[in-house]
Amino acid sequence: MPIKYIPYTPNTIEGQAVLDNITRTKRVLRYRENNEVYNRLERGMPYYEVETVEQVGEASENLIIRGECVSNCAYLKEQGIKVDLVYIDPPFASGADYAKSVYIRRNPKLAAKIKEAEQSIEMDELRTFEEKMYGDIWQKEDYLNWMYENLQAIKSIMSETATIYLHIDYHIGHYIKILMDEVFGEANFRNEIIWCTTSASNVKTDFPKKHDTIFRYVNSPEFIFNADDVRVPYAEGSLDRANRNVIGKGGMNFDSIKLNEKGKIPEDWWTDIQRAARYPGENVDYATQKPEKLLQRVIQASSNEGMVVADFFGGSGVTAKVANELGRKFIHCDVGINSIQTVRDRLVAEKANFIIKEVKDGVNLFRNPQQTMDKLATLITGLQTKVEGVSNFWLGAINDSKIGTVPVYVPDLIDSQQKLLDIPIINRIINQEIQNLSIAAKKVIVYYIDIADEKELKKFIKENNATTTDIELRDLKNLLHETVVNDELEFTCEKVENKNKDLFDAKEVYEIEITKFVSDRLQQKINEFNEKGNLQAINKGKEFDPIDISEEGLELIELISLDCKNSKGEWYSTTEIKIDKLGYVIYDGEKSKDFWNGKITSKEKPLRIKVRNISGDESIVSVE
Ligand SMILES: C[S@@+](CC[C@H](N)C(=O)[O-])C[C@H]1O[C@@H](n2cnc3c(N)ncnc32)[C@H](O)[C@@H]1O
Repeated sequence: MPIKYIPYTPNTIEGQAVLDNITRTKRVLRYRENNEVYNRLERGMPYYEVETVEQVGEASENLIIRGECVSNCAYLKEQGIKVDLVYIDPPFASGADYAKSVYIRRNPKLAAKIKEAEQSIEMDELRTFEEKMYGDIWQKEDYLNWMYENLQAIKSIMSETATIYLHIDYHIGHYIKILMDEVFGEANFRNEIIWCTTSASNVKTDFPKKHDTIFRYVNSPEFIFNADDVRVPYAEGSLDRANRNVIGKGGMNFDSIKLNEKGKIPEDWWTDIQRAARYPGENVDYATQKPEKLLQRVIQASSNEGMVVADFFGGSGVTAKVANELGRKFIHCDVGINSIQTVRDRLVAEKANFIIKEVKDGVNLFRNPQQTMDKLATLITGLQTKVEGVSNFWLGAINDSKIGTVPVYVPDLIDSQQKLLDIPIINRIINQEIQNLSIAAKKVIVYYIDIADEKELKKFIKENNATTTDIELRDLKNLLHETVVNDELEFTCEKVENKNKDLFDAKEVYEIEITKFVSDRLQQKINEFNEKGNLQAINKGKEFDPIDISEEGLELIELISLDCKNSKGEWYSTTEIKIDKLGYVIYDGEKSKDFWNGKITSKEKPLRIKVRNISGDESIVSVE
């Protein structure tokens, strides 16, 4: 349960166009009539306990927080932290799932095998070889309700002079503009920036969609806009006309306009910034990664040195990285472990100082909400998804030999607000969802993470359930615990002569050698990949060469960190190595051409060792 609820402030500005003004039919947006959202807004932002999990470098105000946008804002508000600039690039409601490729490390023979395997498997069948990061499939109404709550939460912690940039695209951007008018006020709208990009396109029936939209709103008329810091060169034509003193089309004499020697302020359509993939040095393999140049323009225009720049859907960490480079403080938040690890490693390479925190909202996530949801479906004994007559409000149904089909409701972990089971949800189950079932269910099972007031809820069910269906409440936390199983690690630790004086200036060092690494989670994934590949090969009459992991399992390791300071509690990485996807070692953020040899050394005696596998799961073991 949250420790308490913190009010969203302020409420919608009076007199603004609000989405409930365009409520028409059941199918159209109606979040104002949607009591669930209304009640949640009234209740406030859930404030949970927040734990410091790691300190990198020296103590600082820079933060990385793993958690949902709304609970992160509750935490910041409770700490009295205000932000001066917000850039967010939330899921676009694009109807897609985002995944990352998992690269098996080090053994070149295996790397070659994976390549072959990839080629013999159809592209869209490759998902089993990838890890899901986050889903972006929404009902429009749910998305807008969710975004409304996020925007209210973010506004609660914006300083008086703050600006927000919201990056979106055609899928839902026009609705977002109305939401932003409502939350920030039409008078505070400053720009609709069109970021134009190019890439090959096969589209023949439409104009290829090659732009994103970035809405810029300010919190008050006292906002920051450093025009001189973002000037770009004038177009040649403008310079030429100015030089020749030509009369412009509008009758304007260019000679009379003083061209600024630093260049012009970019218009609200940006064609001079490419997608991140076009800047190879920046690529951190994070789907939807945005380019640094984009963030440089945003941060330079709308903040000053020393100010706090926040990104609540931080992804690859581009905002934090650029903010740090430009002498701003940063707050990076994201709900997925992959984002937290990616930004952490990116900032370690920058020698940045920061603290990593985690919101303890009772959900022991398996990597990210998406993967946890998938895993949960397999943990509920007998659960079948996509059962006929059972709508997708339910996760699926169990077939009970005595009472028949039992629909099962599990809160959607991707939508933070579903975590609390309260009367509006139970009401919906009783009065809508059970009645909409096209099977006669004798019982339904309702899982919950938090429960508003169990006694009251049970009383409500007793008094209001006019159906003949029993409702069984179950605590999801018991199941969530089972989603996380640690990897196993065997190693030796010895004091040896220091052979690499470039790394440490010491005669002797502690050397840890990993002798065995076992990850059931990854092995399971590889087995699934092999089975699928094999089946496909059989169907095509071909041979399949499976991925084979060595007895020692070291190919499954991505990062090893040693803590020589704390033996428990928050992690302090005294020294670490990361093995890049080609097998080269990155020492404390510094790239090298050394091939990993299974060892890591440190000057001081290690107290704990942390190993991150190639899918991002971390295990900590103490060194005796
Ligand atoms: C489009 S990506 C952001 C990409 C980022 N701008 C970059 O350049 O790498 C959206 C991110 O939002 C995160 N996310 C989704 N739902 C969230 C939530 N409720 N709270 C915080 N982060 C969330 C996802 O994990 C994902 O990393």
